[in-house]
Amino acid sequence: MPTVIYELSDGSVHEIDVPAGQSVMDGSVRNNLPGIVAECGGSCSCATCHVFLDEGDSGRFDAPSDEERDLLEFAEGAQPNSRLSCQLIVGAGCPAVRVVVPDTNG
Ligand code: FES
Repeated sequence: MPTVIYELSDGSVHEIDVPAGQSVMDGSVRNNLPGIVAECGGSCSCATCHVFLDEGDSGRFDAPSDEERDLLEFAEGAQPNSRLSCQLIVGAGCPAVRVVVPDTNG
């Protein structure tokens, strides 16, 4: 099962196994990690699931859609490696990926 490593704003690091086909957001919410609020439940309309994706992992996911890009423009503290974690679907053969969760998600 793919592993997602969440680095939270308090400096803690959590390694979570996320079933293939689920999102990086799902893995966080289902394990009650703070920082990814996911107000819209994953429908790409709230940006409260904003994370920073390790540069080396960006090729493991689909490129952001226009909708995601538009939302990220307004996300607080957005950077070039910003993504919405509900749009990051982990694949079966995906090795561990690492995301940094900002403390600005609402
Ligand atoms: S959960 Fe709302 S945009 Fe990701």
